[in-house]
Amino acid sequence: MKPHTLKIAIPGAASSYDILSGNGILSGAGAWARKCLGRDTQRLAIFSNPTVNDLYGDMLTKSLRSAGFSVTTFLMRDGERYKTLRTVEAALAKFADEGIKRGDAVIALGGGVVGDTAGFAAACHLRGVRFLQVPTTLLAMLDSSVGGKTGVNGPGGKNTIGAFHQPAGVLIDTATLATLPERELNAGFYEAVKHAMLAGGEVLANTRHALDSREPKRLLTMIRSGVEFKAAIVAGDEREDSKKRDSHSRKVLNLGHTFAHALEKVTNYRKFLHGEAVGYGLLYAAEISKSLDLIDKNDINLLYDVARGVGSLPPLASIDPQEVIEAFRFDKKTHAGSLEMVLLKGIGKPVIVAADKIPQNTHAAAFRRLLEMQ
Ligand code: NAD
Ligand code: GLY
Repeated sequence: MKPHTLKIAIPGAASSYDILSGNGILSGAGAWARKCLGRDTQRLAIFSNPTVNDLYGDMLTKSLRSAGFSVTTFLMRDGERYKTLRTVEAALAKFADEGIKRGDAVIALGGGVVGDTAGFAAACHLRGVRFLQVPTTLLAMLDSSVGGKTGVNGPGGKNTIGAFHQPAGVLIDTATLATLPERELNAGFYEAVKHAMLAGGEVLANTRHALDSREPKRLLTMIRSGVEFKAAIVAGDEREDSKKRDSHSRKVLNLGHTFAHALEKVTNYRKFLHGEAVGYGLLYAAEISKSLDLIDKNDINLLYDVARGVGSLPPLASIDPQEVIEAFRFDKKTHAGSLEMVLLKGIGKPVIVAADKIPQNTHAAAFRRLLEMQ
């Protein structure tokens, strides 16, 4: 399949950027970065981790140098638990030492952890330098690299410290998925299922095709349609306006995330991969939607069918339901004391519901249902 460019233009914001996707295009990253950044940019800081840098760092560095950039590399430790202010501080010290200037840029090479942390460090350095995203996990390709949410985990929970900072460009090379462990690929598929449940139609069909046969062409088609769906939502509501509650609100992209973030927080970000927690979050949202009579049985069955196609999730049995439900209130989507949850009226029909409209016993019952399914 030929490389393809999707433009994301955010009305009223300075940001408009291209998302280039293809199979085997990383070696051309230098020319791409030059096009995104312009000819005056001299210095680039690659922001990665040792795992990804060992695999793709040389190829990226070589290509960037051949396009005339001088390149330095900052490596954070690998793992969600290092998505912290301490890591950002270390990166900022490196950028200062290396003389990264306002016209220079940061380039994130890795999964969502690297992308979120690198983007936030770029937003902070000298009050904001440009950054590029080169996602190397399925989750980062179809979700986190697009849309400009950057940040780290803080005392209040997951992603509670951050900034909206749109990238200057995104390069998605599905050839890098060849080295991604299967568990990580599956975790990414849960974010794809999230897009499929929110969008329905072609996004759902492409996700099902990719689940049937995980060949690169089908993965690329699924990624492109998921990214296109997300880009349209982001273009209409870049900053997730707290007053917006319709089905085009950016909040809908948080389907499954209230539960997921709580699950990650109570397990210290160690037991579940983010995508796996989202997998449980989708099932949880489906159960609540069912209890409130929002969604019909056929759509519930379809959701379960697609989710089952991804594979099994790590067991929930050792988790205290009350602790998870308590952790909801730390979720960053709490505004003025009222938590909102994204639920489904059907496939392709998200709805935002105030949590105080959901009876407490509905939460406990939904958790019990998830335990029964183990
Ligand atoms: P991750 O970044 O931890 O990457 C998963 C693992 O795969 C890591 O060990 C990494 O080193 C390794 N890896 C990455 N690419 C590889 C490759 N090509 N080959 C072999 N190994 C590779 O996890 P993730 O699932 O990519 O991202 C999860 C993060 O994304 C979470 O912190 C979540 O909050 C965030 N996220 C952000 C947004 C957003 O809009 N900003 C959206 C969704 C998720
Ligand atoms: N992943 C949620 C968002 O980008 O808004």
